[in-house]
Amino acid sequence: MRLKTINELKKILKKQKNDHKKIGLVPTMGYLHEGHLSLIRRAKLENDFVIVSIFVNPTQFTPNEDFEQYPSDINRDYDLAINNGADIIFNPKVDEMYIPGVSTFVHVEGEITKKLCGASRPTHFKGVTTIVNMLFNIITPENAYFGQKDAQQVIIIKKMVKDLHMNVNIVVCPIVRENDGLALSSRNIYLSKEERAQALILNESLTEVKLLFHKNNKVSDLRMLIIDKIKSKTLANIDYVEILDANSLEEIEIIARPAIAAVAVKFGKTRLIDNILLGEGTYPYITF
Ligand code: PAJ
Repeated sequence: MRLKTINELKKILKKQKNDHKKIGLVPTMGYLHEGHLSLIRRAKLENDFVIVSIFVNPTQFTPNEDFEQYPSDINRDYDLAINNGADIIFNPKVDEMYIPGVSTFVHVEGEITKKLCGASRPTHFKGVTTIVNMLFNIITPENAYFGQKDAQQVIIIKKMVKDLHMNVNIVVCPIVRENDGLALSSRNIYLSKEERAQALILNESLTEVKLLFHKNNKVSDLRMLIIDKIKSKTLANIDYVEILDANSLEEIEIIARPAIAAVAVKFGKTRLIDNILLGEGTYPYITF
């Protein structure tokens, strides 16, 4: 079933909750791929009733980003979501979520929102936490599903849930990749053939570091290795390459506890992110 209004959704959820059904939520911006579908399937396994939200959230785009052009195919998304276990697709209009005159936003302060993607997209995470908060308030799910692909997003959402005593369990799902290693992303369709071929360097360099860090755990060496490899690709433009503590995103000099190597690289106008966990037995790695 596809719903566009909060009232319709609340009515159906009330009945589900009266019947003691466990509700799972998968927030997305649509143009679904296997990464999203893996979250939906996991949600179906662990809940009685699954809501997939499809909402291109304007407040998480910074000016000059691709909000207006964000890819969309709602009919295809609807079939994919239902076939993978969704019970409801919630696909509201912008002014259904952001009522005219809205002036309340949720912002997680501190280093975790300032570094990595927060540095080049300063208002991005405020938009993410605000919309995710709205969805949690409307749906009050037992479980909500997020991908490790957006590692910083997950850390920030976990922090928000902890700080605000929210009653939702955040489930982190592994990164789904193409057979050749490229992490799935709705934005991959923007890549030219040549850019896409060169973009494989992201996963290749991260995988190499994962194999190497047991022998050399010095962050400066490992970081340079990734930078050199990415720079060898003519179309790559590095936004950041960082190796940080996997829980706090604090800077570290050696890898003595779970760490995350995270990269953001532009190919033409397309900005890709990827990451890999460094540390044994660290999945799921977030311990908030
Ligand atoms: P979107 O980019 O559509 O992603 C929706 C969810 O799918 C996120 O939790 C993301 O981490 C996960 N995902 C994307 N690519 C993945 C992959 N290759 N493997 C596994 N999971 C993947 O992230 C957002 O939307 C928005 O910020 C949102 C949370 C919906 C708030 O607007």
